[in-house]
Amino acid sequence: MKTILVTGGAGFIGSNFIRLILDSEPDYFVINLDKLTYAGNLGNLLGIEEKYPKRYVFVHGDICDEMILTKIFTDHDIDFIVNFAAESHVDRSILQPNLFIETNVLGSANLLNVAKTTWKERFDSKRFLQVSTDEVYGTLPEDNPEIKFTESTPIQPHSPYSASKASADLLAQAYFDTFGFPVLITRCSNNYGPYQFPEKLIPLMINNAVNDKQLPVYGDGKNIRDWLYVQDHCEAILAVLQSGKLGDVYNIGGNNEIKNIDIVTMILDYLGKPHSLIKYVTDRLGHDRRYAIDASKIKNELDWEPKFQFSEQIGTTIDWYLSNTEWMENVISGEYQKYYDLMYSGR
Ligand SMILES: NC(=O)c1ccc[n+]([C@@H]2O[C@H](COP(=O)([O-])OP(=O)(O)OC[C@H]3O[C@@H](n4cnc5c(N)ncnc54)[C@H](O)[C@@H]3O)[C@@H](O)[C@H]2O)c1
Repeated sequence: MKTILVTGGAGFIGSNFIRLILDSEPDYFVINLDKLTYAGNLGNLLGIEEKYPKRYVFVHGDICDEMILTKIFTDHDIDFIVNFAAESHVDRSILQPNLFIETNVLGSANLLNVAKTTWKERFDSKRFLQVSTDEVYGTLPEDNPEIKFTESTPIQPHSPYSASKASADLLAQAYFDTFGFPVLITRCSNNYGPYQFPEKLIPLMINNAVNDKQLPVYGDGKNIRDWLYVQDHCEAILAVLQSGKLGDVYNIGGNNEIKNIDIVTMILDYLGKPHSLIKYVTDRLGHDRRYAIDASKIKNELDWEPKFQFSEQIGTTIDWYLSNTEWMENVISGEYQKYYDLMYSGR
């Protein structure tokens, strides 16, 4: 039996990853450590404890809390760590950068340190995977589609969010270089799929369109992102965790660049709603123009490539949100509504 500590497992990608592990890896015991911030929701893992009573445990706690981490490491013989826990929304990082430094930088540092100490330098068969983002690389020109981020592209983050993620990547790499600590880093493009908090582009637009509310589009709407279905991302993380080369970075992408405005109109068309619901609003500060991932390393070394097509999965995703209105209502708490008003009213 392998014991895997998943941090941030009650969030969007973490909860999808825990489902994947429990369903596909019968020899894994999963510990989910999550602070349950506004973005963490145990409703994302409904039924998991009943389905896997002997292979799953939830611990409510903060990765910044050294005591709780030490207790988990003392109570369990941890083999693998996958660190999803993060403040993950760029807009919020513009409003509250310090929160991002606390969790994304100091929390990751704490996790590295406690793992290093309790593993007592015996790293054989241990693995620590830092889940990072393509945003650490900065932005790309729109007029040259041939240029993409590779693993050797220098990191050049622009937002407090991406700077905090880049800092954690550098710390993880420093632990590998200095201590031989068994680090792996993945850098993925934008994810979409079930259980994403509705502050992010796709669920936000679906929710507004369904409710005939305006769809706020930043700037000219022509910012380009590469989109990957969340299950593909989770399978890539598992492949890197199991077979990646220690100390290495792996880019993960969908080879699927789309302008934000095209996603918004796709959603409106799917739902049969008028384009007049689109409202262009003042652009995000420091808004990166284009991200694109060269994912040839993970394909060549680990034989991973995306299985899902955006043209099909966007419909599946919209249908999921349509049939999970109760989930949507539960996550749109008063706090989220206040934040929504702060971000978009009068813009
Ligand atoms: N969503 C994307 O498109 C995307 C793309 C690439 C990389 N990533 C990275 O993947 C990871 C997960 O992203 P997501 O979209 O699922 O985020 P999310 O915001 O949906 O979930 C984050 C989870 O972390 C938990 N958390 C926050 N602070 C914590 C702390 N101090 N201690 C313990 N738990 C804490 C939250 O409660 C939540 O459950 C992040 O590290 C993010 O940077 C996300």
